[in-house]
Amino acid sequence: MNILSGKKVLLGITGGIAAYKTTYLTRLLVKAGVSVKVVMTPSAKDFVTPLTLSTLSKNPVLSTFTNEDDDNDMWNNHVDLGLWADLMIIAPCTANTMSKMVNGTVDNLLLAVYTSAKCPVYFAPAMDLDMYKHPSTTQNFEKLASYGNFMIPAGDGELASGLSGKGRMAEPEEIVSFIEQQLLKEQPLRGKKCLITAGPTHESIDPVRFIGNHSTGKMGMALATDLANRGVLVTLIMGPSSVKTDNVLIERINVISAQEMYEAVHANINNQDYAIFSAAVADYKPAIPAHQKIKKSSETLTLELVKNPDILASVGAMESHPFLVGFALETENEMEHAFAKAKKKNTDLLILNSMNDNGAGFGIDTNKITIIDNQGNAQEFPVKSKTLVAKDIVDEIVKRTS
Ligand code: PMT
Repeated sequence: MNILSGKKVLLGITGGIAAYKTTYLTRLLVKAGVSVKVVMTPSAKDFVTPLTLSTLSKNPVLSTFTNEDDDNDMWNNHVDLGLWADLMIIAPCTANTMSKMVNGTVDNLLLAVYTSAKCPVYFAPAMDLDMYKHPSTTQNFEKLASYGNFMIPAGDGELASGLSGKGRMAEPEEIVSFIEQQLLKEQPLRGKKCLITAGPTHESIDPVRFIGNHSTGKMGMALATDLANRGVLVTLIMGPSSVKTDNVLIERINVISAQEMYEAVHANINNQDYAIFSAAVADYKPAIPAHQKIKKSSETLTLELVKNPDILASVGAMESHPFLVGFALETENEMEHAFAKAKKKNTDLLILNSMNDNGAGFGIDTNKITIIDNQGNAQEFPVKSKTLVAKDIVDEIVKRTS
């Protein structure tokens, strides 16, 4: 699958003759599975029509801060656009726009989006050869690179002026290939495999009741998403959860009980590079679930419970196993219990979260973790969104395994 597939790309088009090539660039991106939104400077519209680009991108093309055609005068929110994108491409990028990008001039929507964007920005300069060689242009290339932007160098050849030399915008195929190569370099985990358990398990008491817990699967899904965004093929074994999966690199296997989770883990554990156990698995289950709904005939009811298999420990005991990350959810003597679990279950890393910490644990969108390694080192993190907690955990895995 193409590394660009599923990405959200803002294509910024400025006013140069090479703007005509962006129709083909848009097509290439869409064909690669990219969602494209186009933002044009007013002068770009002299070179290529918004209608062509909106037809190809299947999205409205924006060029002004407000929608002139819209009766409600809707504001085109440059901040939202900047946050929406996984990456921004400015092609062609004229000398004029480059100079404004360097100096923070914001006199059109494209520049407002550029200055708001949090994603990587690629720019493909296009201009006549003498403009390209001008010291101010060279300086602007360097300044834009120093701001963290990626320059896609112009090529040599015939220019619109009739002269020949450097300044032709890179061809659409070259732009796509440049970005693909850059993304591949940034994904040391690409092509690796990770198994994740997530969510609660439900242990049947009778056909209508179960023993369960408050896990929602949010922590596990955040891990699965972070890994998939880095190109990892994820097998997500999920207990009953309403959290949705929409990443093509995540294969989800839904299970209900701890026994089902155990079987799904062992059917899929071979050939995994990493395994992360974030599920809150019920330690016990009713010894004999009733076949019919239990009637409330007596004042008390005693259930006999038997132990469920410890899934993480069973993988830790395998002769050869993937890099193993466990979780520990504690309510008291957190460090002591977590160190004991790490040892007993043979984890490479153990993620401790405590119900005593505000912003940590079940259901909520944040967590507070301590990462414990198999040498007994502990690293504490502040409260963060589960998305950022997942990133910290995956960064630690990358550090330890590459
Ligand atoms: O799903 P959320 O609402 O986002 O909440 C996230 C979470 C709080 C559930 C998560 O961050 C977390 O702490 N998961 C582990 C919860 C837990 O059951 O911890 P534990 O200390 O009981 O278990 C220790 C480890 O052994 C865990 O990795 C667990 O998945 C694993 N285990 C436990 C029992 C069992 N029978 N089999 C297991 O594999």
